[in-house]
Amino acid sequence: MKPQVMSDPESVRDTVRGWKKQGLSIGLVPTMGFLHEGHASLIRRAREDNERVAVSIFVNPKQFSPSEDLDNYPRDMEHDLEVCRSEGADLVFKPEPGQMYPNGFQTIVAVDKLASGLCGASRPGHFTGVCTVVCKLFNIIHPDRAYFGRKDAQQLAVITRMTRDLNMNVEIVGCPIVREPDGLAKSSRNSYLDAKERGAALCLRKALLLAEEAVAGGTADAAQIRAVARKTLEAEPLARIDYIAVVDPDSLEEAQGEIGKKALVALAVFIGRTRLIDNTLIGR
Ligand code: PAF
Repeated sequence: MKPQVMSDPESVRDTVRGWKKQGLSIGLVPTMGFLHEGHASLIRRAREDNERVAVSIFVNPKQFSPSEDLDNYPRDMEHDLEVCRSEGADLVFKPEPGQMYPNGFQTIVAVDKLASGLCGASRPGHFTGVCTVVCKLFNIIHPDRAYFGRKDAQQLAVITRMTRDLNMNVEIVGCPIVREPDGLAKSSRNSYLDAKERGAALCLRKALLLAEEAVAGGTADAAQIRAVARKTLEAEPLARIDYIAVVDPDSLEEAQGEIGKKALVALAVFIGRTRLIDNTLIGR
């Protein structure tokens, strides 16, 4: 069945109110569109867990800095609606920027420490934009559960923190990273890569696999784990490292000395002009 497609937040609220009256559970998959298999897996998971599934498609201007290319962010609404239909979404919410941020809009939702390192350090204001729009989406759709990919590990941690801190009545569900057959993490940004860059982008996965191997082989020192990843990334001429981090998976604080039971190895790397992120959870 075709999903209902709506742009007006008030119409969405009416529909959702009807669902709530019937006691139906609602899963939300927030996206910026240009949907790929990673998004499809989130919609499928939401479908399994909930009686109604809403997908939002909104390229959120507030999470782009002036130097980032909002206008060129990839878009393909026809394809996105087809993915939503084939994965069984009930509602697609695709507002215009003016409907989310009408004249006079001036509220922000900001998470402090957790949002300041890693991607937050190189993309100032990014997570405030993310939290502001996600908070609005939660207030419009009132989902019981919301689904986010683990590729954006910091985003997942920040949104989880926001919902706890602000007593939001929504369960945040983190879902596995979906990869291309050769290991590159699926991302809408992969569409920016030319053929040479696409090959070079595999260095992220390679660096993470070698870090995993080092830990499996007994390396526990965070600096050594970082060094393994650095060596692999530096061997790729098209790669420019933004950060290599070995952090506590919950606090995202940089591990010093020996890692604990679990640590997150997170990378952000420019391949040409495209900034890619990936991560892996390592354990001892
Ligand atoms: O991960 C994304 O696509 C975006 O950051 C999100 C969560 C949809 C907010 O705009």
